[in-house]
Amino acid sequence: MTRSAKGITRRGALALAVAGATAGAVAWLVGEAEGAPGTGVHSGSPHAGHGSDAVAGLEGVRERGQTGLLLRSRIDLPAPFGSPLPLLRPARAVHTAQGDLYEITARSAVAELLPGVQTTIHAYDGRMPGPLIVSRRGTPVIVRVRNELPFPVTTHLHGGRTPAVHDGFPTDLVLPVGGWPHPLAHEGRIAEGGRDYVYPLDQRAATLWYHDHRMDFTGAQVWLGLAGMHLHRDEEEDALSLPRGDREVPLMIADRAFDADGSLMYPAVDRDLAVVGGVTGGFHDGVLGDVILVNGRAWPELEVEPAQYRLRLVNASNARWYRLTLDGLAHDEPGFVQIGGDGGLLAAPVRHRALQLAPGERFDVVVDFRGLRRGDAVVLGNALGDGSTAKVMRFRVRADQADDDVVVPDVLGVVEPLGEPVRARSFSFGRADAAGASASGHAAVWRINGEGYDPTTAVAEVRAGDVEEWEFTTDNRHPVHVHLSPFQVVARGARGPGPFDAGWKDTIALGPGERARVRVRFDADPGRYMLHCHTLEHEDMAMMANFDVV
Ligand code: C2O
Ligand code: CU
Ligand code: CU
Repeated sequence: MTRSAKGITRRGALALAVAGATAGAVAWLVGEAEGAPGTGVHSGSPHAGHGSDAVAGLEGVRERGQTGLLLRSRIDLPAPFGSPLPLLRPARAVHTAQGDLYEITARSAVAELLPGVQTTIHAYDGRMPGPLIVSRRGTPVIVRVRNELPFPVTTHLHGGRTPAVHDGFPTDLVLPVGGWPHPLAHEGRIAEGGRDYVYPLDQRAATLWYHDHRMDFTGAQVWLGLAGMHLHRDEEEDALSLPRGDREVPLMIADRAFDADGSLMYPAVDRDLAVVGGVTGGFHDGVLGDVILVNGRAWPELEVEPAQYRLRLVNASNARWYRLTLDGLAHDEPGFVQIGGDGGLLAAPVRHRALQLAPGERFDVVVDFRGLRRGDAVVLGNALGDGSTAKVMRFRVRADQADDDVVVPDVLGVVEPLGEPVRARSFSFGRADAAGASASGHAAVWRINGEGYDPTTAVAEVRAGDVEEWEFTTDNRHPVHVHLSPFQVVARGARGPGPFDAGWKDTIALGPGERARVRVRFDADPGRYMLHCHTLEHEDMAMMANFDVV
């Protein structure tokens, strides 16, 4: 019996043939330009250029522990751990009087995500992940984005305390350098070909990441490659004894699915990513892939010394949750010593045997490989996965011993509890009773407080400097993300914060039917910001709202 058949039977899962069930044509993205010149994605006849299995359309399979449908690759998948982990090296900045300037071009490129297979991606500097930005408190960063892609983009620094005009608002588009022939459904601050994003970065050291945020199209555009990491540093972090240099490893985890020709599959309604956003019917819950990429490589391997390593983890997947495990360590202690979360260092380390990551969340952990010998292997697994998704990457020890004088401190950062709130609000995250449609005609099936996203209105006005308490309730899995300021989780239901809620968060992993309360204080220049579900298909299909800081 094949793995997939077994998986389906065991879970009583439902396989959905989506193409026939939706009004639109068979819809997915493929990487090779066969459509309009330079689009890089297919256009015209939905079946053009595809073999007979394309006619059957995209199928999704329900997966236990996930809100989303699994898209199965049509290419033969490689054996895991067969290629080296791509190491992210800091990008080089041009130092200017205003800050460190990075020039990044969003463009198409061919990448080797699966060993020996060529895949067209649409990515920052043509790389997935994009260039690693390393910044330091006190020095602003300017990112000059040029858009050579065949569709509009907008770039958001996730976790950045950023002025509204630079926050990558979903309608503040950067149009392609060659022009954009399609109507724009919404007003916004439109730039032609390129623009600067200015990040003051007057904030604590933290694991940040950046990604596309175009209204209705974020899921497709991130899936195609538009995501990168950004490590922000400060003196509080410098002062600690933590693994550094080669022993600090940024890891961006993301799942994808591949077509028989190596192109990325995605059930976009509009493969040109031109007018109608969102995904085809069965995939409204979210898109899951069967290949786990780490730093843009399928199930890679990293050679390590028998020493402590600091892993800077981000879950950059559209919809997939992980429960990471470590198998093969030489000791019996919980394998993950968490030292930081979304918003930087925790007050004290938190030890986990398994580490849950919902989309958008970051975890800063120390893993101890001491006691292992040359040739030993440690597998980073995923207890929420099955078959191909149960593995993430492998560490292979390359020496019998190594110097290591790191002692993870018992006291890490200062995390002052936010005081009593002056105001309470609640936000419910759920599915619409009846599917609505946005102005551009795409499905808007997800809601916050019963409303679909409207970029022109705000659902809340918050006073800068006030502490507010926000309650989030859910019908299904929704990782709730708030822009501009991190928050502190104060309760989950009748209990206190969960094991993964420590420190400052900007994304809270909420399961089905949860109720959580967080405290937040916005202190920044006035402007309009968003809160949304970080399941990108939910976000694209209207699970987003604006708040104004006044
Ligand atoms: Cu990482 Cu508004 O998102
Ligand atoms: Cu964000
Ligand atoms: Cu959601």
